[in-house]
Amino acid sequence: MRILSFESSCDETSAAVVEMGSGRRILSNVVASQIETHALYGGVVPEIASRAHIEAISSVTREALDRADVSLDEIDAIGVTDRPGLIGALLVGVSFAKSLAVSRGLPLVPVHHIRGHIAANYLTYPDLAPPFLALVASGGHTSLIAVRDYTVTETIGQTRDDAMGEAFDKIARVMGIPYPGGAEMDRLAAAGDPTAYAFPSAAIADGSLDFSFSGLKTFVINLLHRLAQRGETYSKEDVAASLTAAVIASVEKKLSLALTRFPCRTLVLAGGVSANSHLRRSLADFAGERGMRFCVPSRDLCGDNAAMIGAQAYYERLAGHTADASLNASANGG
Ligand code: KG4
Ligand code: ZN
Repeated sequence: MRILSFESSCDETSAAVVEMGSGRRILSNVVASQIETHALYGGVVPEIASRAHIEAISSVTREALDRADVSLDEIDAIGVTDRPGLIGALLVGVSFAKSLAVSRGLPLVPVHHIRGHIAANYLTYPDLAPPFLALVASGGHTSLIAVRDYTVTETIGQTRDDAMGEAFDKIARVMGIPYPGGAEMDRLAAAGDPTAYAFPSAAIADGSLDFSFSGLKTFVINLLHRLAQRGETYSKEDVAASLTAAVIASVEKKLSLALTRFPCRTLVLAGGVSANSHLRRSLADFAGERGMRFCVPSRDLCGDNAAMIGAQAYYERLAGHTADASLNASANGG
């Protein structure tokens, strides 16, 4: 099945063509990033994002079809992120996908953004199949998900406030690093001492599988402000390394607990923060020590992209989860 898919939930406009069935192949995956525009404001400005999606979506789609070397006549289904995300941004992709599906008489397949992130792993590992435990960490989400089957997922833990990527980005901003600072924090951490600072855990100690990144974020930002007030310098590398160590320790604590409730043989990492080299390495070790397989998307599939949406759309289509022209977008996951 050849799927043309769209992703516009935040600050990337993306269209892709994937071929799913006996194999899992990306024919094209075009991503137009708005990061430079939003960096001027220190974060994503929803109204600007919607306008930029409208400006980009036609040309991104044409490029995706050209690169895949297929015409619309050779497409079997249309996939699109319908939730969660910025409502105005989502609506651009949903409206565009809807009009294409209706005008071409093609099935329209709505995809939950977080399921899409998980599906990036199906493209990276052609033999990967549920059940598995997934950690999805991005700028907007941090969720522990029991993936029982391709379209049967249960969120068993999540952040109660900030997302993991958001904590990295907001701390980076106070350190003078442009938005989004996650990738730069990754580079800095490689040269720092992870034991330089003892930062609080983001794992809520109540027996749940939930996180709170807000306390950790505020603790680090308060420290940086205090140091600045006293005119003291600090090592950005040490702060980044200590923060990364605190995040990894928090994640491993909740993963250990999650595995007692949802025992399985495979651990999957996904979402923008899954590009983090320290997290990738630590979770590979964590899984290895438990005799588990560890999967993480290739780096180009970690951030928001339409190929991952197309991969999940295939399984949603098989399960009969299609929509008609009344499809609406939803800002929250429900
Ligand atoms: O999945 P994504 O592209 O968009 C959302 O759905 O939110 O994730 C973007 C997030 C940003 O917070 C960015 O700073 C973070 O992923 N990120 C990283 C790294 N690369 C991207 N965080 C930590 N280390 C990285 N290497
Ligand atoms: Zn995302």
